Amino acid sequence: MLPGAWLFWASLLLLPRPIQPCPRGCDCFTQEVFCSDEELAAIPPDIPPHATDIVFVETAFTTVGTRAFSGNPNLTKVVFLNTQLHHFGPDAFGGLPRLEDLEITGSAFSNLSADIFCNLTSLGKFTLNFNTLEALPEGLFHHMGALESLQLQGNRFQTLPGRLFQPLMRLKTLDLAQNRLAQLPKGLLRSLTSLQTLKLSNNMLSGLPEGVFGNLGRLQELFLDGNGIRELSPEVFSGLFCLQKLWLQHNAIHHLPPSVFASLGNLTFLNLQGNELRMLPAGLFAHNPGLVGLSLSHNQLETIPEGTFANLSSLVSLTLSHNAIAHLPAGVFRDLEELVKLYLGSNNLTVLHPALFQNLSRLELLSLSRNQLSTLPGGIFDTNYNLFNLALHGNPWQCDCHLAYLFTWLLQYSDHLLHIHTYCGGPAYLKGQSVLALKEEQLVCPVTRDRLGFQTPGMYDREPGDIWDLTMEERAAQRRCTYSNPEGTVVLACDEAQCRWLNVQLSPRQGSGSLAMKYNASQEWDLRSSCGSVRVTVSIEARAAGP
Ligand SMILES: *[C@@H]1O[C@H](CO)[C@@H](O)[C@H](O)[C@H]1NC(C)=O
Ligand SMILES: *[C@@H]1O[C@H](CO)[C@@H](O)[C@H](O)[C@H]1NC(C)=O
Ligand SMILES: *[C@@H]1O[C@H](CO)[C@@H](O)[C@H](O)[C@H]1NC(C)=O
Ligand SMILES: *[C@@H]1O[C@H](CO)[C@@H](O)[C@H](O)[C@H]1NC(C)=O
Ligand SMILES: *[C@@H]1O[C@H](CO)[C@@H](O)[C@H](O)[C@H]1NC(C)=O
Ligand SMILES: *[C@@H]1O[C@H](CO)[C@@H](O)[C@H](O)[C@H]1NC(C)=O
Ligand SMILES: *[C@@H]1O[C@H](CO)[C@@H](O)[C@H](O)[C@H]1NC(C)=O
Ligand SMILES: *[C@@H]1O[C@H](CO)[C@@H](O)[C@H](O)[C@H]1NC(C)=O
Repeated sequence: MLPGAWLFWASLLLLPRPIQPCPRGCDCFTQEVFCSDEELAAIPPDIPPHATDIVFVETAFTTVGTRAFSGNPNLTKVVFLNTQLHHFGPDAFGGLPRLEDLEITGSAFSNLSADIFCNLTSLGKFTLNFNTLEALPEGLFHHMGALESLQLQGNRFQTLPGRLFQPLMRLKTLDLAQNRLAQLPKGLLRSLTSLQTLKLSNNMLSGLPEGVFGNLGRLQELFLDGNGIRELSPEVFSGLFCLQKLWLQHNAIHHLPPSVFASLGNLTFLNLQGNELRMLPAGLFAHNPGLVGLSLSHNQLETIPEGTFANLSSLVSLTLSHNAIAHLPAGVFRDLEELVKLYLGSNNLTVLHPALFQNLSRLELLSLSRNQLSTLPGGIFDTNYNLFNLALHGNPWQCDCHLAYLFTWLLQYSDHLLHIHTYCGGPAYLKGQSVLALKEEQLVCPVTRDRLGFQTPGMYDREPGDIWDLTMEERAAQRRCTYSNPEGTVVLACDEAQCRWLNVQLSPRQGSGSLAMKYNASQEWDLRSSCGSVRVTVSIEARAAGP
């Protein structure tokens, strides 16, 4: 382009907008007209003829008569937002061969007749959101074969004519969310072979007819959340080969057939939050190896079978919070190589297997909050090299020697701010203290302070015969025998199961830092346990440090 031409264009841009006739109550831009006058009592007759877009917001007129816009043949977009419209003449939008986008949102009309929209052959996007529509005539979309997007959100449909969508072979998006649909006619979606997104969220569906999605081979995203669906038939999703996202949260599903997701080889997101699932059938996700996000929170799961997630090697986020999970098999997360976020909060976990999180080397976030955990096994996070966000609050942490691993790990790796609300549930004298405010030497295991210093089961005051009534943890504690001097600063421990080693531990007196057993002193203990009796003498001799 010549420099002269540039100058010419630049000076045009600087000119004030050419004065052109614009209807009262409207603003006219180059090709757009925007009318938002509450006084506007009719569609203005003097809309600039070359307008391509016209938008009415909160206007007062109630009627769009037959061919109301025939003076504006170039209109491509007509929008009514929150207006008083409730009457349309036959062929109301006739004479607009280029109309691509028609929207009537937020008006109060409950019925439409088919002849209003009879000639909209070029319409690509049709929006009738948040009106008070209760029904639609079967022929409404008869000549709308070009339609790609149909928005019917927020009306009052209880059902729809079975052949309503028959002409819409090119439709890609259908939004029926927030209506009152209690059932879908079996063939309703049969012609929608191009459909990519279907929204049926927040209706009143209690079930889905067999085969209702059978022809939707191109569907990528299906929203069924917020209904009352109780049951899914094994084949209901069987034609959805391209489905990537399936939203089933907030329904009443209490049972899943093992093969219900088996056709969904491209599934990446699945949300089953807020249902009534008590168990997951074996192999439920075996054919969904591309899953990236899976939520099962707010169900009633009590455990997860070992192989449930075996094929989910792409899974990044797994949400199992707000269930009743009391037990997790050691290998349940074994194959989740890509897992970054794992939510296990608000369950009923009491014990975790030491290998539970093994090989989850990408794990960054782990929530264990609001369970019944009193300790975690040593080494449990040793392969979680990227873990830094760990939620632990709401557990009865037993702040004794068994918590030492977790305590050290927290100091070293975790974000301290996260743990201000993590408190000890025991022992009694530490109850309610913040775990991170403790000193490591406070994490000691209980010993009796009896003068002779021996105790075997003592801690639990039970006869040895009771051993089978005890929990596994209690039994392990019984197998140890511990002894200490009255000050608790010299601790002897043996392992009754092996009768082999004797562990002698000298620790400074808590708080003061001085040894309770005086230097150059000697003390004797008679240790009696099922290993036999042994006399132990502990002598301490202080020597000056060498040069
Ligand atoms: C409609 O657009 C065409 C070209 O796109 C133009 O020739 C014609 O003048 C326009 N009609 C009006 C009424 O502005
Ligand atoms: C709804 O039906 C009534 C009577 O059947 C009619 O007068 C009215 O124009 C219709 N409304 C629309 C928006 O078609
Ligand atoms: C549809 O449009 C054509 C030409 O634009 C017209 O002849 C016909 O009457 C219209 N159909 C209806 C039902 O108005
Ligand atoms: C995933 O979708 C593609 C088309 O987008 C299809 O060709 C392929 O078969 C699908 N994969 C599976 C496992 O169904
Ligand atoms: C799922 O994983 C199991 C066990 O790892 C394996 O035997 C099976 O072949 C996998 N299935 C698919 C569809 O990849
Ligand atoms: C948790 O487990 C305890 C004991 O096993 C049981 O009494 C309680 O009902 C469980 N809580 C939930 C929410 O399942
Ligand atoms: C972790 O990975 C190692 C090496 O790949 C493997 O030998 C081990 O069995 C895995 N552990 C678990 C619990 O999957
Ligand atoms: C302990 O005994 C050693 C010699 O056995 C002596 O050198 C040292 O002074 C004594 N220390 C105390 C505190 O009595």
